[in-house]
Formats: sequence, structure tokens, C-alpha cells
Amino acid sequence: MSKILVTGGAGFIGSNFVLDWRAASSQAVVNVDALTYAGNLENLSSLADDPDHIFVQADIADSERISTLLQQHQPSAVVHFAAESHVDRSIHGPEAFIQTNIVGTFRLLEAVRSYWSSLAAERKSSFRYLHVSTDEVYGSLAPSAAAFTEKHTYEPNSPYSASKAASDHLVRAYHHTYGLPTLTTNCSNNYGPYHFPEKLIPLMIVNALAGKHLPVYGDGMQIRDWLYVKDHCSAIRRVLEAGRPGEVYNIGGWNEKPNIEIVKTICALLDELRPRADGKSYSTQITYVQDRPGHDRRYAIDASKIHQELGWKPADTFDSGIRKTVQWYLDNPDWVAHVQSGSYRDWLQKQYKDAA
Ligand code: NAD
Ligand code: DAU
Repeated sequence: MSKILVTGGAGFIGSNFVLDWRAASSQAVVNVDALTYAGNLENLSSLADDPDHIFVQADIADSERISTLLQQHQPSAVVHFAAESHVDRSIHGPEAFIQTNIVGTFRLLEAVRSYWSSLAAERKSSFRYLHVSTDEVYGSLAPSAAAFTEKHTYEPNSPYSASKAASDHLVRAYHHTYGLPTLTTNCSNNYGPYHFPEKLIPLMIVNALAGKHLPVYGDGMQIRDWLYVKDHCSAIRRVLEAGRPGEVYNIGGWNEKPNIEIVKTICALLDELRPRADGKSYSTQITYVQDRPGHDRRYAIDASKIHQELGWKPADTFDSGIRKTVQWYLDNPDWVAHVQSGSYRDWLQKQYKDAA
């Protein structure tokens, strides 16, 4: 039985993907992750006794190591999640984003190209390299502009999105120039279990429960298009199964919401599920703080292509997904406590100063 190789499978989306893949498929997973601050093996603890989950701690930029792993495991596909993924961190320190998202993706592509070139004809034509990317490469939308299609111009605005855009271009070039059977997915904002609490939704849940401020950037009217992480994972599985090599598929849930509405929804769910001892609403903890530099105003994904070509659509609505997510954080205080290490506290201090 052949295997797939996943990069970044100990992060938020990657770990959800690996868990869902092992539940849905008999194919083994080789999970390659450098275990940066964002990688967490605890996300994968339910696979501890699964011999078909093979975890390897390695950097995607380590060409020799990646080439050896490809030769050793002979995967039928590579699904590339590994990245530096947090916009605010890219503003404080862009270099790691250039290194992993651009140099790392380039080295991974080179290793995969060499491995793929050596395959026999049948395996070569069925092999797939799936590159997981973001809607942020398209830039910011005006309030009434149509949602991003796959043909939208690239206008990345942060060091993070610029580094992801560069990696997307490399993937496109490897298909066009070398014929590597690539697939690229550009997805909107995910939320759900195992989301590191430096991103909006988990940060708000964790801060609310800890009695801290809920820091909303600027006027809180920036719009994001939210998708439950399990729906992103099912879309990737579908693209891997039936996507056309060389193609790009936008993934989203047709679910645009301003940030302040997200925060108020979380507060209302917590008021219902874990009321504050003093009877007040968690929304009294909302604090408007300084805006993110270069903050994109609006993202929205047009997911028609993946729906029409591959029949994919999300299973969860925002209402069902956010309720499950808030409940997951309430049910998993140990996971939260373990990720709140010294380096996490240092990040809060750097980013939020007094508001944290
Ligand atoms: P994450 O930050 O939670 O996880 C990234 C994982 O990659 C971590 O496990 C980390 O240890 C690993 N990693 C980082 N650098 C590495 C390296 N050099 N070599 C090997 N492993 C390394 O990220 P995420 O939110 O799960 O995002 C996964 C992918 O999906 C990224 O490519 C991101 O750009 C993309 N994406 C994320 C979202 C979102 O809302 N989170 C939306 C669309 C696309
Ligand atoms: O759009 C897809 C992208 O979504 C992914 O490519 C990124 O990897 C992922 O991190 C996410 O980027 P965002 O910048 O949109 O996500 P974040 O959770 O950091 O912020 C969401 C919105 O909330 C954004 O408008 C900024 C705002 N925000 C965020 C934080 C952390 C706040 O108002 N306060 C906060 O404390």
C-alpha cells in the first residue's frame, strides 16, 4: 500500500488533515515537520499506536534529508502545508518567512522533482504534488468588489502573503517548465480544533476564559471569510483525488464576517456555555487596540470552480463550526495550558504590551 508524504502535519491544519486522512484512508502518512513553535505532537496523540502514521522531525529546507525520505518511502503524493503562517509575526520578523515559505518550498520542489523524474511511467503520471496556499496572495478587496476567483491578480500586502505568493509562483513554474503534476489550493481563514492561540478565534476564546482583554485591531470592521478546518481538509482530499494537474482551486465557505462580529459571537457562546461568575458578559472584555500595519480590509473567496468541477462544498456552517470550536477549547484545557509556554507568553508581551 503506497504512502503519502505530508509536510507541516503537526501544525493546525496539517494535524487536522493527518487525523482525517488516517480516519478516511488506508494509505499511510509520512508526516515531516520541523516542530517550530507552531508544531505540536500533542495534536497527533490519538495516532500514537497507529503504525501507518510515521512522524519525522525535519526541515523542508534540508534537501538531503527530504530526498532520502522520498526515496525511502516512495510516496504517491506530497501535500505541502509547512510554512510560517502568522501575519503579525511576519511583520515583526520576515526572515523566517522567506526561509521556510520561499527557500523551503523551492528546496522541497527540487527534491520532489528529482524523485518524481526517477519514477516509472505509470507512477510518474499518477503522482501529485499539492501546494497548500492562501487567499491572502490576492490582496485586499474593496467592500463591494467580487470575491477572489483563481484568475484574480496577485497583490500580496504582508511579508507573509508575499512569501506565500512567491511559493505559488514557484509551483506554477515547476508545472509549466518541468511538467511536475502540481495542484495549488488557495483557501480562506480556517478555524477549529488545535488552532494555535495567537490567531484571532482561539486567542479570543483563551483570553476570554482567562479574564483578559479581547484585543480587536483598529475598528474591528475588517472582513475575513471563515471555513471550518475539517472542510478545508475534505477539499484538499478531493483536489488530490480529482483535481487537474497544473490547476489552482480556491477554497472557501461563502462566509464573510467582520472581526468584531466574530468576537461578539464567541462571547455570546461562552456566556451560554461557561457563564462568568459575576454574571456579566464576556463582551465587556473587548478592547480596541492599535491596528495591524498594512492590515488588509477584506478577503472573500469565490469557491465556484471547486464546487462545479469537483463537486466539493463545505459540510459545516459558521454557526455549527464555531459552536464546535468553542466547545473544543472548553473541553481541552490541558492542550491550551501546554501550548502556553514561555515563548507564547513572550509573544503576547511583544505583540499586545498592556492589552494582553
Ligand atoms: P501552522 O503555523 O499552524 O503550522 C505550520 C506547521 O509547519 C508547524 O507544524 C510547523 O512546525 C511546520 N513548519 C514550519 N516551518 C517548517 C519547516 N521549515 N520545515 C518543516 N516544517 C515546518 O500553520 P497552519 O495554519 O496549519 O497553515 C498550514 C498551511 O496552510 C500554511 O501553508 C498556510 O499558509 C496555509 N493556510 C493557512 C490558513 C489558516 O487560516 N490558518 C488558511 C489558508 C492557508
Ligand atoms: O486568509 C487566510 C489566512 O488567514 C492564512 O493564510 C493565515 O495563515 C492565517 O493566519 C490567517 O491570517 P489572518 O491575518 O487573517 O488571521 P488572524 O487570525 O491573525 O487575524 C484574523 C483577523 O483578526 C485579522 O483581520 C486581524 C484580526 N485580529 C487578529 C488578532 C490576532 C485582531 O483584531 N486581533 C488579534 O489579536
